[in-house]
Amino acid sequence: MFYCYSSKVTYLKAVILAGGFATRLRPLSCSRPKTLFPIVNKPLLQWIFEELANNDVKEVILAVNALTQFHIKQQKLPKCGLKIKYVIDPPKMPLGTAGPIKNAEKLVGHDEPFIVLNGDILTIINYKQLFNTHVNTDALATIALCKVDNPCRYGVVELEKDKRVKRFIEKPPEGQAPTNLINAGAYVLSPKVFDYIPKGKPCSIEREIFPLLTKEHKLFGHTFNDLWMDIGKPEEYLLTNKIILDGLALNKKIKTFKGAKVEMPIAIDKHVTVGKKTIVGPYVTLGRNVVLRDNVQIYNSIVFPDVEIGDNSIVNGAIIGEGAIIGKNVRVNNGCIISDQVKIRDNVNLTEDFAICPAKEVSETILKRNIIC
Ligand code: GDD
Ligand code: MG
Repeated sequence: MFYCYSSKVTYLKAVILAGGFATRLRPLSCSRPKTLFPIVNKPLLQWIFEELANNDVKEVILAVNALTQFHIKQQKLPKCGLKIKYVIDPPKMPLGTAGPIKNAEKLVGHDEPFIVLNGDILTIINYKQLFNTHVNTDALATIALCKVDNPCRYGVVELEKDKRVKRFIEKPPEGQAPTNLINAGAYVLSPKVFDYIPKGKPCSIEREIFPLLTKEHKLFGHTFNDLWMDIGKPEEYLLTNKIILDGLALNKKIKTFKGAKVEMPIAIDKHVTVGKKTIVGPYVTLGRNVVLRDNVQIYNSIVFPDVEIGDNSIVNGAIIGEGAIIGKNVRVNNGCIISDQVKIRDNVNLTEDFAICPAKEVSETILKRNIIC
């Protein structure tokens, strides 16, 4: 039996799940939700809004916790013509990846299928095609699927010939994924799915709801080949910036700084100062108000707004949080994560993969991989 929703939905709604704890991006995520991490100087959530608006979505329901809501409201993101609403997980009870969808039931309504999206992925999906796959089958849920080299840290899907999901396995053990086709974290759901999710308690769409729908042959997949990036881990976050910089580099004119050298691709936000003999790039993004003093070298790195880096310092392959102050003659090596408002004193050498929690101060060279909290 087919459900009689039209593929020409006039008022498309999307629920964005963004209330997770981003443990793999700690300590940088201690002071900012993952969905607000800048990708080439634009918060991820803004990229998501733009993509949804381009796909004729009219209303977005952000499913978050109270703290994430606070951070998002503070950012005052451009709404891209979207109506923005919130549903909030109860205090001290994260609802997982299905509970917040149930929480949004009243706002979504029962008239038409709707989109659900993980708030930590950057992707170009043709949502209209995803929607058409959904309404042209007897699916209750249709998952956007993409191929990756290492599927084990995702939801892995095996499909029948008619796009029906044969098996959905969330994060199978290493080497045991039956395919490399993964859940891209974007779905179209029919309102009937609300009946499968318990109200007011934690529930996982991947571990509880999708297996149920698979058993009932109501879960479908829609494969796509366009850009898809998960920013869940620091190296993935750096890579996402790199890929976007490559995409933007061709047609973007970059400001030059007198006496400094710029290696493309890079992105520079407003009010950035770059000193003499400083080398910036390739693959660097500098946020608003960043100051790089003289003879600094910075490569393959993301620098959040209001950071200052002192004379003769070298930063390579690192993420530097908002308002951090790096002294003179400092070395910040590959994989380092410097959180917001951290202070690194002059002459300090930070070993590879060193991470430091917000607002801490480092005054001695660190030679062991470590996390300072
Ligand atoms: N409101 C709310 N409450 N949102 C939550 C909660 C919660 O308790 N827990 C997680 N989320 C949000 C996260 O903020 C994120 O945007 C999304 O739900 C997915 O959670 P993650 O914790 O990022 O899951 P994952 O990356 O391990 O796996 C998921 O995404 C993969 C694709 O990136 C799964 O959906 C996989 O199957 C999928 O392949
Ligand atoms: Mg994720």
